Amino acid sequence: MAEQESAGQRAGREELAERLRAARQGGGTDRVERQHAAGKLTARERVELLLDPGSFVEIDALVTHRCQDFGMVSQTVPGDGVVCGYGTVDDRLTYVFAQDFTVFGGSLSETNAEKICKVMDLAMENGAPIVGINDSGGARIQEGVASLGGYADIFLRNTLASGVVPQISAVMGPCAGGAVYSPAITDFIFMVEGTSYMFVTGPEVIRTVTHEEVTKEELGGASTHASKSGVSHFTVANDAACLAAIRELLSYLPSNNLEEPPRTGTDDPPDREDDSLDTLVPEDPNRPYDIQRLIGAVVDDGRFLEVHADYARNLVVGFARFAGQSVGVVANQPAYLAGVLDIDASLKGARFVRFCDAFNIPLVTFEDVPGFLPGTQQEFGGIIKHGAKLLYAFCEATVPKVTVITRKAYGGAYCVMASKHIRTDVNLAYPNAEIAVMGSEGAVNILYRRELQAAGDEAAEVRKRKVAEYRAKFSNPFVAAERGYLDAVIEPRETRFHIVRALRQLSSKRQSLPPKKHGNLPL
Ligand code: HXC
Repeated sequence: MAEQESAGQRAGREELAERLRAARQGGGTDRVERQHAAGKLTARERVELLLDPGSFVEIDALVTHRCQDFGMVSQTVPGDGVVCGYGTVDDRLTYVFAQDFTVFGGSLSETNAEKICKVMDLAMENGAPIVGINDSGGARIQEGVASLGGYADIFLRNTLASGVVPQISAVMGPCAGGAVYSPAITDFIFMVEGTSYMFVTGPEVIRTVTHEEVTKEELGGASTHASKSGVSHFTVANDAACLAAIRELLSYLPSNNLEEPPRTGTDDPPDREDDSLDTLVPEDPNRPYDIQRLIGAVVDDGRFLEVHADYARNLVVGFARFAGQSVGVVANQPAYLAGVLDIDASLKGARFVRFCDAFNIPLVTFEDVPGFLPGTQQEFGGIIKHGAKLLYAFCEATVPKVTVITRKAYGGAYCVMASKHIRTDVNLAYPNAEIAVMGSEGAVNILYRRELQAAGDEAAEVRKRKVAEYRAKFSNPFVAAERGYLDAVIEPRETRFHIVRALRQLSSKRQSLPPKKHGNLPL
């Protein structure tokens, strides 16, 4: 039988209960109501929605700040403005920190940073993803440099964890000043429409320094970063949708760089054919079609989680599965800017390819690309160095790589888009694919300039004949197939089966890079 509890024992338990109650209360009822009125959930509500029900284990609930200045001694809240711990997402270990805007505006104190660093260290040591929920007024103003040091401690850990465990940032409120650089180093940023914003310097500073007038939303709202800057990868309508989307993203990812991505079951037959693919790609090289239709038709159950959906839409990237195997899809989009590669598309693609390679996620590339975008804007903007990033990323990637050329593979873009020459394992093409230095019209204009000038009234007829000749000779997949640059020319309807079979073949692929400290990515 249990012994009678002493007064001291009871007092200890009561104090614990009181401290935990205060921690759960955060900044108090009024501030919680304000948070809800702003359309935001509290840090604890967010953690509960992110993790499997009942799985959250809190760490450091009783930590308080150490600030002695500005009357802070009397203002302590257990937890100090950030809820940290671990739990599971679909039964897999996941670490989380969630800034609590109801406590000093979620601002980062020295101790608050120590809590975040603790869970980041645990995530790395235990090989599990970390999700950071950002909703903060930035550095705790009362703490000065101690707070700035805390940020730097976090940035270092973001960098060390990069490529070791997936790092996901949810921006669900303010995230400004140097604070933006923690999400920026992580792998994926989610932003909530209407309630989140990110900028290095806000509208007030901008007005003073550059005399520009811009609202907070225009400067750093969700749609700005989704479509203009490309800083964020996913835009979501509200907090609940954000946390559900993070769970979905995690389902495609391994827990760390030493694991394979999780495999799921599917009823979608691996050899499912799709007749519509035989006619999806128009014969006329100038007619667009939507590459999303092809992706949807070949992946398991038509499910595709697009990344960066509103940024550089001429390249589509995202996660899908083939026979339960997680893959990263990279695809030129002929329905937008004819699928041309430009600076933004190169950056988008390079970052995605490098993420997949770091986390053992095979790459499936669908190629229909007329080349790199011409123009002074692109050249002055550095298309040379940015295009090189995509090339470098594909060259460096040692995960299984499968490429399907659906139509155009012209010029340098042929080499860049996971060609055989840069260690792609399985290269396939449709029967009407065109693999050439450039399109037939452009080639004829250069090769036969003098003849065309001399032909006078006959020029159109001569051009037509020469274009037909050039197309017959070079604008087809067979020259490449004869040389072994393509492993096979396939019937479009059978695309899914060819990819599934290729991925199965490559499931134990091992390939390495020459020993080095690290390469020198053309930044
Ligand atoms: C301490 C802060 C705070 C901060 C907000 N609060 N920011 N406390 N340090 N940085 C407190 C407020 O005093 C208030 O406390 C509560 O949080 C909510 O703030 P409100 O202003 O009432 O909320 P709202 O109107 O929604 O405005 C949110 C805000 C604004 C836009 C974030 O609070 C703001 O501008 N804060 C300062 C932002 C800032 O300049 N931070 C430093 C940036 S420099 P009460 O008690 O009233 O509830 C930086 C450097 C990082 O972060 C460097 C890293 C290398």
